[in-house]
Amino acid sequence: MSFSQVQIFDTTLRDGEQVPGCKLNTEQKLIIAEQLDELGVDIIEAGFPVSSPGDFKSVQEIAKVVKHASVCGLSRSVENDIKVAAEAIAHAKKPRIHTGIGTSDTHIKYKFRSNREDILERAYKAVQYAKSFVEDVEFYAEDAGRTDNEYLARVCEAAIKAGATVLNIPDTTGYCLPHEYGDKIKYLKENVKGIENAILSCHCHNDLGLATANSIEGVINGARQIECTINGIGERAGNTALEEVVMIIKQHPYLKLETNIKTEMLYGMSQLVSDSMGIYTQPNKAIVGANAFAHSSGIHQDGVIKKRETYEIINPKDVGVTESAIVLTARSGRAALAYRAKKLGYNLTKLQLDEVYANFLTFADRKKEIDDSDIHQIVETCKIYKEIISHS
Ligand code: KIV
Ligand code: ZN
Repeated sequence: MSFSQVQIFDTTLRDGEQVPGCKLNTEQKLIIAEQLDELGVDIIEAGFPVSSPGDFKSVQEIAKVVKHASVCGLSRSVENDIKVAAEAIAHAKKPRIHTGIGTSDTHIKYKFRSNREDILERAYKAVQYAKSFVEDVEFYAEDAGRTDNEYLARVCEAAIKAGATVLNIPDTTGYCLPHEYGDKIKYLKENVKGIENAILSCHCHNDLGLATANSIEGVINGARQIECTINGIGERAGNTALEEVVMIIKQHPYLKLETNIKTEMLYGMSQLVSDSMGIYTQPNKAIVGANAFAHSSGIHQDGVIKKRETYEIINPKDVGVTESAIVLTARSGRAALAYRAKKLGYNLTKLQLDEVYANFLTFADRKKEIDDSDIHQIVETCKIYKEIISHS
């Protein structure tokens, strides 16, 4: 079975860092960039160099230290932006310029006060100019999600003619439904002349909670790059979460897709980004949230203790989480209590468990979650405590 490679383009340090209050200094960015390189991402979008001297410096330093991934700098379709981006990534082993322009009628009319033909020409010239600095030029058609497909195909064709190696099709406002986004990629694959010479890239925002689904529909329909961030951080509701698309691809081998990501590093990477940026990760966040491998209802706990796969589709070790957690609450059953008590050295007989469990329920009704010290206390207050410790 031959698998197709999906390139992982990480934009945690560019789109991710646009989250209000999450600004990182150069040193923090360097640590994250080195870890992303180690994680196996194919491209690191290190920043938007023209935006500030600080961002320029960060991109420049990242370009010097990254060993394997391409290092990319963002620019608008403006000559000075492109020149500054080229300077910032000059020392990268594999430099890439990411340039582009808004292509939806809304952007053309209200943002640029322009028209479709003018935008087409600006797109062509921007790629051509970027190409005078580097071989690897990625073009983005901002708001492609709301851009008419026929016009979008013409813009993509112009970008390819000017030398673009990658065509980024952003759903900038997170508006598309998965089938619409997938159809857009399919349409471009079928209608853009020269598309065989470029890679189509998915860049989806999460305004309707569809960023991951849309990116996956994109690669199912022929895109071969996904732009994403650790923990899905980014503008407004965020970007596609790297850990989600990578694990979807890994857990569904019939898609015949693969990535270079060392998935065992995902949990650590998530913690690093969350700690550095001071953004708390929601506990129910897929793959990396504190509850992603925690079981608290009696029925589920009983199943997981008997066979992990009854309620888990991912082995926690595959994403760097040591083991599934059996969380004790008033909804937990005897199996879970016996399991946790055993870990603390109490091997309870069925009769002993009856008394401990009754004590546990009274305790658990007063407290949200029962921890190890509570278990000791619960066992110690049992009438049969002496019997329990003499046999454990
Ligand atoms: O969402 C978007 O359209 C972007 C582009 C600048 C690539 O982030
Ligand atoms: Zn974006």
